[in-house]
Amino acid sequence: MAMLLNVEKIEKYYGNKDNVTKVIDNISFRVDNGEFVGIMGPSGSGKTTLLNCISTIDNVTTGKIILNNKDITRLKSKSLDNFRQNELGFIFQDFNLIDTLTAYENIALALTIKGEKSFEIQGKIKLVAKYLEIEKVLDKYPYQMSGGEKQRVASARAIVTDPSLILADEPTGALDSKSSRLLLEKFVSLNKELKATILMVTHDTFTASYAHRILFIKDGRIFNELIRGKDTRKEFLNKIIEVTSLLGGDDRNVF
Ligand SMILES: Nc1ncnc2c1ncn2[C@@H]1O[C@H](COP(=O)(O)OP(=O)(O)OP(=O)(O)O)[C@@H](O)[C@H]1O
Ligand SMILES: [Mg+2]
Repeated sequence: MAMLLNVEKIEKYYGNKDNVTKVIDNISFRVDNGEFVGIMGPSGSGKTTLLNCISTIDNVTTGKIILNNKDITRLKSKSLDNFRQNELGFIFQDFNLIDTLTAYENIALALTIKGEKSFEIQGKIKLVAKYLEIEKVLDKYPYQMSGGEKQRVASARAIVTDPSLILADEPTGALDSKSSRLLLEKFVSLNKELKATILMVTHDTFTASYAHRILFIKDGRIFNELIRGKDTRKEFLNKIIEVTSLLGGDDRNVF
């Protein structure tokens, strides 16, 4: 598979000269088109910071991030907007839906911003809503939906623009186990059938076991990588639990 994302020797510092915190410490990795990659690590290890640098919400201190052959750390404001609209889909832990818009309007927004016509938008939303099983909530406002429904609407919003890369930060963090399972199964079929490339941050071993490869981060560095290969999800889950418990303590607390 062709390479989609190349993160090259990035570092991220916060603070000023007298008080510098190194949050990302020389991280490099690649993601090929069509991969489903998980990023795990303890709280404060730099997972969200890493994702925010890739999504251009935050900027790196040094290093390069190449997506589709473009160094995104060098993009200027107008091309940044274009890049975010066309290449990326975001899924956040707390859904980030707009409360005053219905599910349909929330999903439509990304397409409206791109200037798509309303009949095209309608067609795309119908398709994605069927896929994520949210047809019944399209006219509801976020407060009228369950957590699982909100997260599937947020996922619909992320994929409706057909982005090159889907970035998800703790997508199951606010969901119960049944909703988590349903969402993760949707991610798997998005990846398999629609060939979506997914980069998902999580500290939950069960959630991580749906990915095909896991990068483990500690103190801003990659310290391990697990590849699922021919393992079943359950076998992979056991390996993930092994790695997380090697770090000491109960995996639920450490990650
Ligand atoms: N804007 C900021 N200014 C200063 N320090 C920051 C900033 N954002 C994050 N940090 C620090 O960087 C470190 C990594 O934070 P980050 O949010 O990336 O962790 P995380 O791995 O996502 O943790 P969690 O699992 O709790 O979400 C933390 O120590 C945090 O306090
Ligand atoms: Mg985080």
